[in-house]
Amino acid sequence: MAPGSRLGMMFETQIHHFETRQAKKPKNSVDDLDIFVECEVHSADVGVLVTSLKRVAKDVETSREDKVPWFPRRIQDLDKCHHLIIKYDPSLDHGHPVSLTLLGDPLPHVEYTAQETATWREVYRKLRSLYPTHACTQYLDAFQQLEKHCGYREDNIPQLQDVSRFLKERTGFQLRPAAGQLSARDFLASLAFRVFQCTQYTRHFSSPMHSPEPDCCHELLGHVPMLADKEFAQFSQDIGLASLGSSEEEIEKLATLYWFTVEFGLCKQNGLIRAYGAGLLSSYGELMYALSNKPEYKPFDPEVTAVHPYQDQAFQPVYFIAENLEDAKVKLRSYAMKIKKPFALHYDPFTSSIEVLNTPRKVKRALHQIKEELENFCLALENLSQNHSSTSHLSLRYL
Ligand SMILES: [Fe+2]
Repeated sequence: MAPGSRLGMMFETQIHHFETRQAKKPKNSVDDLDIFVECEVHSADVGVLVTSLKRVAKDVETSREDKVPWFPRRIQDLDKCHHLIIKYDPSLDHGHPVSLTLLGDPLPHVEYTAQETATWREVYRKLRSLYPTHACTQYLDAFQQLEKHCGYREDNIPQLQDVSRFLKERTGFQLRPAAGQLSARDFLASLAFRVFQCTQYTRHFSSPMHSPEPDCCHELLGHVPMLADKEFAQFSQDIGLASLGSSEEEIEKLATLYWFTVEFGLCKQNGLIRAYGAGLLSSYGELMYALSNKPEYKPFDPEVTAVHPYQDQAFQPVYFIAENLEDAKVKLRSYAMKIKKPFALHYDPFTSSIEVLNTPRKVKRALHQIKEELENFCLALENLSQNHSSTSHLSLRYL
């Protein structure tokens, strides 16, 4: 690994081959060398690497071999996934500078000011009054739990550390503070490891009902309750897994899918339409609008949704409605299977790492693990059917 420097930050470059020869066309002295380096570097860092090399070498030539885009294999690799597209506006900072928190570090405790808490109170009170009639049941259940166990109250902005611990116990998700809006590739990659990168500052007090960028009201009221739901957590991780090693074009489609589901998704529930998207559940105005008769509704179909133009400056003209969260997950999985990659991936929850299934041995080992688990489930069903004869038809149906 060789360090490079980007705006004073370090990044890693993996050198595969390094070779020196006597220069073919020496410029200064006969001792001049031609240096050939083959290295692997994140595409976002290539420009800076070349600029750094030009400072110490003459005639830097590069040739690019686009392999499968780099992606994190271990949860610790997420420390490299912090490419920002929008750095957060320092004028929004009321004394809470966001430093880079490495995975495993305790999440910073924030002392919110009275004014920030007042903004939170206004948002919390208004949204909470809408939830019973506008939010899906999964959201309502989790919200109740968060009020009970996690300090969700009008007069208290919950701390990320407490919320992260709560989520970890429920679905294995954890929060990680980000210094601004991340690139879609980096943000989606973190979801593959059940890590949700989020902001920690509050919106400006002058506009409590609107924030141009995600703030802690959006993260805590929009995203967190849904991440406590097992089905939704799996759905989110599946989008993340689909993004690993995908082309820019596919990332764009997955980001659009994320937009119309995780951010602005609606679903059917007992014949009614309810919201599960965080962009809706954290915006009083848009939540009301989305469930009025004004917008257009379309059924959630990943092929269609992934290429639908989206709106990030005003309310969405179109919302996609899932039959239910499980159906959305199944449809997303079959969409993800069609993304062309030269290998399949397997997530190992014990080591929080991604295994690339690129040899028959690795596939066999993964299959073996699944077979052992299946046997365990079959045994459980067998036991159930012996103890309760009425469940025997159930076990047969599932087998
Ligand atoms: Fe969001």
